[in-house]
Amino acid sequence: MIFVTGGAGFIGSNFVLDWLAQSDEPVLNLDKLTYAGNLDNLSSIKDDPRHIFVQGDIGDFELVRRLLAEHQPRAVLNFAAESHVDRSIHGPEDFIQTNVVGTFHLLEAVRAYWVGLEGDAKSDFRLLHVSTDEVYGSLEKTDPPFNENNRYEPNSPYSASKAASDHLVRAYHHTYGLPVLTTNCSNNYGPYHFPEKLIPLVIHNALQGKPLPIYGDGQQIRDWLYVKDHCTAIRRVLAAGQLGETYNVGGWNEKPNIEVVNTICTILDELKPRADGVSFNAQITYVKDRPGHDRRYAIDATRLEKELDWKPAETFESGIRKTVQWYLDNPAWVENITSGQYRQWVEKQYQ
Ligand code: NAD
Ligand code: DAU
Repeated sequence: MIFVTGGAGFIGSNFVLDWLAQSDEPVLNLDKLTYAGNLDNLSSIKDDPRHIFVQGDIGDFELVRRLLAEHQPRAVLNFAAESHVDRSIHGPEDFIQTNVVGTFHLLEAVRAYWVGLEGDAKSDFRLLHVSTDEVYGSLEKTDPPFNENNRYEPNSPYSASKAASDHLVRAYHHTYGLPVLTTNCSNNYGPYHFPEKLIPLVIHNALQGKPLPIYGDGQQIRDWLYVKDHCTAIRRVLAAGQLGETYNVGGWNEKPNIEVVNTICTILDELKPRADGVSFNAQITYVKDRPGHDRRYAIDATRLEKELDWKPAETFESGIRKTVQWYLDNPAWVENITSGQYRQWVEKQYQ
């Protein structure tokens, strides 16, 4: 059994679905079901006995301790976090609470569990912490991409809280010998992405005839990775990563935001043209920039490729087309999220 946290969110749910599609090893899934947690993402495994879902907080030491004792997982994978940079600017407190304090309590519960293991169960145990490239700060146009030796220079409350959690994970290895692995991935996109983030927001707004908001000059660069490629990288690091090490994950797909939005518009023009024949890019609207907006992220994934023999399956062109198609094929999922309907279901189910 593996123990996943945050498995009802975007990347966590993709990971759980992928895991169960490839393996019979059960998954215990602990998720607080914040606004970003959506059980609709997991509806295809609703009745699968290999998936055990528990609503709860990674910061609840007693709950995590009990779940570990009861299920005896061989690994814990920590996806749970507050993840949206704009929300961290408006209200940083939840980010500190979950990403820093929550990770600390999770580490304490995992350490207590691991100390009590014996033999192979102890030596085989792993805690894999899922982190982000944003901890490295912002690159100039001509800088080389981030590698694992770059200094941490986080610029937003979100990235600072993730950096703090990475440092705690590192310290628990260094001080207590806890067998940890950390991954720092670039921007993900794909199915089940909450439509507050750039790519799903643009697809949704385009289809609704709404403005496509571009912050500042739209020349900020992100390095995009299809979410299923992130999932294969995490599986690879879990299987073969060196304890205490960090692995950068990315697919060498740097794109300015305006180019990403134009690409989405072109694909939509082809797959679902506007009734008036005008391109969706007519809806592009430049808006006020994000405060402290990082200019460029880029990941050097050489270590993961060379040491662990990992390669992404998708190019940006193939992944973005699949993504747009997925949103076109799943209007009910989008409608449920944007109407808030999914929350009512959660409230009814877990009251
Ligand atoms: P998300 O916001 O879509 O999902 C987060 C999930 O965590 C939600 O299901 C939420 O309910 C749950 N959660 C939040 N607080 C919790 C708590 N206290 N206890 C238990 N569950 C809690 O995020 P995501 O985009 O899927 O990101 C997952 C992880 O990957 C995060 O750690 C994020 O920092 C990291 N990451 C994300 C990206 C990206 O592009 N989205 C890239 C690199 C790394
Ligand atoms: O780099 C990894 C990170 O990628 C993850 O750690 C975060 O959890 C994830 O949210 C993401 O952060 P970003 O801030 O890069 O993603 P977002 O989709 O919010 O924005 C992508 C870029 O698009 C960024 O430069 C801001 C810009 N943007 C975003 C929105 C929502 C716009 O121009 N307009 C928008 O409406």
